[in-house]
Amino acid sequence: MCSGSCAKCLGITLIPLAILCLLCNILLFFPGGSVADNNDHITDEVWYFGGIFGSGALMIFPALVFLGLKNNDCCGCCGNESCGKRFAMFTSIIFAAIGVVGAGYSCIISAVAIHRGPRCFNTAGAWTYPFLDGNYLSNNTMWEECVKPEGIVPWHLTLFSMLLIMGLVQVALCGFQAINGLIGTICGDCCGCGGSED
Ligand SMILES: *[C@@H]1O[C@H](CO)[C@@H](O)[C@H](O)[C@H]1NC(C)=O
Repeated sequence: MCSGSCAKCLGITLIPLAILCLLCNILLFFPGGSVADNNDHITDEVWYFGGIFGSGALMIFPALVFLGLKNNDCCGCCGNESCGKRFAMFTSIIFAAIGVVGAGYSCIISAVAIHRGPRCFNTAGAWTYPFLDGNYLSNNTMWEECVKPEGIVPWHLTLFSMLLIMGLVQVALCGFQAINGLIGTICGDCCGCGGSED
């Protein structure tokens, strides 16, 4: 099997993931689905742009590079053309590394946000982070501590969990392409030379 066509599938998968991460991060700017009266009422981790920058914008570059690899057809992969393909596969390793860093950043931010919990208006009448050390995760009686914005705890948990999971998938896909690119660099895109047609 041709490692270039494998990269193409990865590129196609990365684009919807990047768009979903972007959307999740944008939705987090609307705590509980409503417009915040004050930017200070939005959880800090939302402002770190994990989904918009790390798992979103930055991911477009590896996705496009991986998609571009599909143009290397495997014909003559034992011939001289393999030099160009080797270089393309080598470039993809660099972009895969950028993807791992971007998605990894988003994962770390999301994990921190899930652990810390959302900023909300608590029963004592202050805007604060009412939860400690992820203690609210296993006890949803504690969620009543957040009075405003309505539904902030499930909103925060759902969106940051989605960012975390999608970020992990992006790390796995880019990590896979890094290995794929390494094999392609060594073998010249198509390891099954002589008789492989795809
Ligand atoms: C859950 O949180 C509430 C409110 O803080 C507390 O009263 C209750 O004991 C907790 N339940 C458990 C199982 O820890």
